[in-house]
Amino acid sequence: MNLLGLSGSPARNAASRTLNAVKQAVEYAHQVDPNISMETINVRDLDIVLCDGRDPALYEGDTKTLIDKIVAADALILGTPVYRGSYTGILKNVFDVIPNDALVGKPVGIIVTASTQHHYLSIEHEIKPLLGFFHAHALPGGVYLTSDYYLDDVLVDEGALERLQQLSTAIVQFVKHVPNDRELLAGASGPEIPWDSRLKGANKL
Ligand SMILES: Cc1cc2nc3c(=O)[nH]c(=O)nc-3n(C[C@H](O)[C@H](O)[C@H](O)COP(=O)(O)O)c2cc1C
Repeated sequence: MNLLGLSGSPARNAASRTLNAVKQAVEYAHQVDPNISMETINVRDLDIVLCDGRDPALYEGDTKTLIDKIVAADALILGTPVYRGSYTGILKNVFDVIPNDALVGKPVGIIVTASTQHHYLSIEHEIKPLLGFFHAHALPGGVYLTSDYYLDDVLVDEGALERLQQLSTAIVQFVKHVPNDRELLAGASGPEIPWDSRLKGANKL
């Protein structure tokens, strides 16, 4: 199993709560199954170009590297801070540059950090619809971490740490018990939608 942690915080400080929570969840997954190969990517550390509508196969450099890693992953732990009630712009850009079929049938565990509880439902109303577009399996629930759970930027709340462990266990179990059959797991297709002919070479879902 190839587990990819992806943190979409643009914060320039080393103490990104999102990055650290994703790393922690990936580490918990490794404790559940020491055989998994794992990596955590902090999107802001890479030089990802803004999506310009080209065929995803034509991106180069860090953008290509990130796309390839997402395509190669069996499962993802996805983290974002809440920005204005939703995920961040740099994370949306990642979803704009990857191929339409990059996540088909793959389980994705969601971690959101935020100041307050106000945007708890951003998991359901913002992030899961985005994963739905990609026919990924958003794991039920998600982990929502607010400032109350931290002491000096360290996640100390026991309930929150337990929820991170549950998320990690769930993602390992999903990959173990659900066969990696993209056709089977893709679910029903949407109706055929004509592709904008100006976006030559872009693929359809
Ligand atoms: C531009 C911006 C918008 C934000 N919007 C929200 C918001 O709508 N709701 C919220 O609870 N927190 C909001 N926050 C707070 C961040 O979500 C919170 O501090 C988060 O834990 C930061 O994660 P990081 O340390 O990984 O960057 C916002 C922060 C910034 C910088």
